[in-house]
Amino acid sequence: MSVKGLLITLEGIDGSGKSTAAKHISSQLQRIMPERRLILTAEPTGGEAGKILRKRLSTPDGTGSSPSKRMEELFLFMADHADHLARLVGPSLEEGAIVISDRYADSTAAYQGVTLQGIVPDPVQWIRRVYAPWNMTPDLTLFFALDPAIALKRMLSRREKEKFEQLEFLRSVNENFRQLASLEPGRFVLIDASRDAQDVAAQAMKRILKRVQSSW
Ligand code: TMP
Repeated sequence: MSVKGLLITLEGIDGSGKSTAAKHISSQLQRIMPERRLILTAEPTGGEAGKILRKRLSTPDGTGSSPSKRMEELFLFMADHADHLARLVGPSLEEGAIVISDRYADSTAAYQGVTLQGIVPDPVQWIRRVYAPWNMTPDLTLFFALDPAIALKRMLSRREKEKFEQLEFLRSVNENFRQLASLEPGRFVLIDASRDAQDVAAQAMKRILKRVQSSW
């Protein structure tokens, strides 16, 4: 649904290396295509809802919060996404930019698809339906596929832990990402995130360049 530009999203569980890859990709792309406007962005954003979310995510209360708190969290992620579209993604695509977003609406379907289990029926599909009328569908989504146990091991070396970094939880999130990828095989591309950072970035670059070239 992008207008003139190209919207590329990076998705995967915590520790899958997509944020590191995003930095490599954006600097390489900018070198290869200096004339093309490139926007590297992320969700949660630095907007109002995003700031509330970041604060909450650094509080280790696990996924044991009440149904109403979990719904509140879902709507904060959605509000942040809506703000992201209105403030940055939509206008940048209109101007013909390549927008790369480190997480996007699929993260909400995958993560809140777990936290809302038992609260709404079939939460992944429920969330997809809420997004469908107003979301901007990415042109390409790279799914950084990694065994959750390896992802967690990688994260143990980090000092700050976010509340969603628990093995069972990450396994369920990973399953949701796989389900989302199977629903839209034309949009999702799997990246083998078990390789080293350079290799992962190279795989991602190859897919992105292919998509960028096909849009010319
Ligand atoms: P980050 O580690 O990629 O910055 O993301 C922060 C955390 O927020 C991560 O654990 C995934 C989670 N998250 C959701 O639960 N739902 C969402 O919609 C998004 C964008 C992130």
